[in-house]
Amino acid sequence: MCGIVGYVGNDDNCVRVLINGLKRLDYRGYDSSGIAYFNNGKFNIIKEEGKLTNLISKVNLDSKSNIGIGHTRWATHGAANKQNAHPHKMGKFTIVHNGIIENYDELKKDLIKKGYKFKSDTDTEVISALLDYLYSKENDVLKVVQKLNFFLKGSYALGILCDDDKDALYALKKNSPLIIGVSDGKNYIASDVPAILNKTKKYVALEDDCYAKITKDDVKIFKDGKNLDLNVKEFEYDDASISKQGYEHFMLKEINEQPEVFKKTTNPYLKNNFEWLLKKMPDFTKYKCIRIVACGSATHAGLIGKQMIEKYANCEVNVETASEFRYRKQFLKDDELVIVISQSGETADTLEALKIAKDNGNDTLGIINEKGSTIAREAKMVLYTEAGKEIAVATTKAYSAQVAMLSLIALNLSLKKDLIDKKEIKELLKDVKKIPDYMQELLSNKELYRKIANDIKDYNDVFFIGREVDYALAQEGSLKLKEISYTHSEAYAAGELKHGTISLIDEGTPVVAIVTDDEIAPKTISNIKEVKSRGAHVIGITNDSCSDASDYYDELIKIPKVNDLFQPLLAIIPLQMIAYELAKLKGCNIDKPKNLAKSVTVE
Ligand code: F6R
Repeated sequence: MCGIVGYVGNDDNCVRVLINGLKRLDYRGYDSSGIAYFNNGKFNIIKEEGKLTNLISKVNLDSKSNIGIGHTRWATHGAANKQNAHPHKMGKFTIVHNGIIENYDELKKDLIKKGYKFKSDTDTEVISALLDYLYSKENDVLKVVQKLNFFLKGSYALGILCDDDKDALYALKKNSPLIIGVSDGKNYIASDVPAILNKTKKYVALEDDCYAKITKDDVKIFKDGKNLDLNVKEFEYDDASISKQGYEHFMLKEINEQPEVFKKTTNPYLKNNFEWLLKKMPDFTKYKCIRIVACGSATHAGLIGKQMIEKYANCEVNVETASEFRYRKQFLKDDELVIVISQSGETADTLEALKIAKDNGNDTLGIINEKGSTIAREAKMVLYTEAGKEIAVATTKAYSAQVAMLSLIALNLSLKKDLIDKKEIKELLKDVKKIPDYMQELLSNKELYRKIANDIKDYNDVFFIGREVDYALAQEGSLKLKEISYTHSEAYAAGELKHGTISLIDEGTPVVAIVTDDEIAPKTISNIKEVKSRGAHVIGITNDSCSDASDYYDELIKIPKVNDLFQPLLAIIPLQMIAYELAKLKGCNIDKPKNLAKSVTVE
């Protein structure tokens, strides 16, 4: 959630490297930031509350330094102020930290008894004090870092500097991602690839419980005192893929990338008349039922997956929010496949849900976007979505890639179970080819989305309604709207409105009705009539085969009709675009909505 960058090299550019890295990590956390760098015989710390520009205004970019660490913070322990910003220094140790230390309170009490005085409310300052205390007994930084791992409970990616070792940067990792970028005479640490992607192509991913000593010429990784071999890999993306490429916002760029992402995600499975779909996916027929566990939009993708897999493959699917699932009594069945869905592959609750399923002996499948991420490594089987790097905090292209992958799973199971006939397969193949163009068509309706945003901008509440797959879409549409435009909205199963919520419908209340499934459309249309007769301003998102309620829509967004399996991939585009246009109209920080962060690595 927060961002870490660190540098040690043979030039004196460190301050620029850190600030540049933080700018590139700004999307991960952004309520305060800070750097520590060696200059004039000591580690200097500069930190500021608020936007990164506040920090930059306090920093002399020309300060000469060849080693340092930087951090952008998304507050967990303690308010978002300068005092709580990282880096934190205690005694001889200066550190930056991502994650949460669960036993920090007891550690803190103990360290206070030993004479340490704390200035911040953070768990991080406790780690620096503990390092300092251990060092006072041991006087060997590497051994102290190794020991630290035994004392800490929770999640941590740490960048560590010691006053007595101004040539080395130390790192420790557990349950929070950290990579080491390597190049000639210059080495880096980063919590996420973009921080250093313009500096080096090569990296080593630190595994849990591993720690590292990094100097300008050398990277050494250890576990339990043993030196490990370096497994150097190359980044998958290039620097261009993390720039806006002319778009006003990353979110708009990512929404517009969906036709390409759809092709990249589905093409590998749809060659040779689905022969590859059968070959390239694991055999799911052995599972009697499926449990999908995820967070946020990934759960909403799972809800669409449930509809598709149940309808097409005749297999029961239950969807759960990971943060609930992990603390509940479990009733997982022996022959139940647990699918976890995650863009980042690092979401703490989803990771924990995965561990619970594994401990219970269930087979697990990860639908993951970030290659080599923790969840991808931990799951028994992985199917990668090909959305590329997603920078905007609110997911769009990764969500639709998840939906596409779940539709492929439904199709795979349906084919294997002989539940789909040749004629439908032929039609489906035709549809799949047309989808990127249809997406493009929908993306070009900017004026309509802008007009709708303008119509609803003065309302405090917006309702999204639909049934079955359209209800799952309504939930994602509603989440997108509230997270980036700060307009309150609710998603309702259309048939449920009359059991209470319809009392909130007044003259002009915006209701976005999603009607794409012709089997259930007449029922949803009845609900549209109910809200319309109470004065609602109805915005319909529908296709030709469900559009006989035209008279009841105040605004109509027609989406092309394709096979039901892939229809949600078209319906989602207007929902994303309405949220985007409304956020823009309201002057919101679209790529970095307040209080939110990309990759939620705390529970
Ligand atoms: C919403 C959004 C979040 C994520 C959720 C899970 O726009 O982005 O709801 O979908 O935090 O994240 P991942 O997919 O990384 O596990």
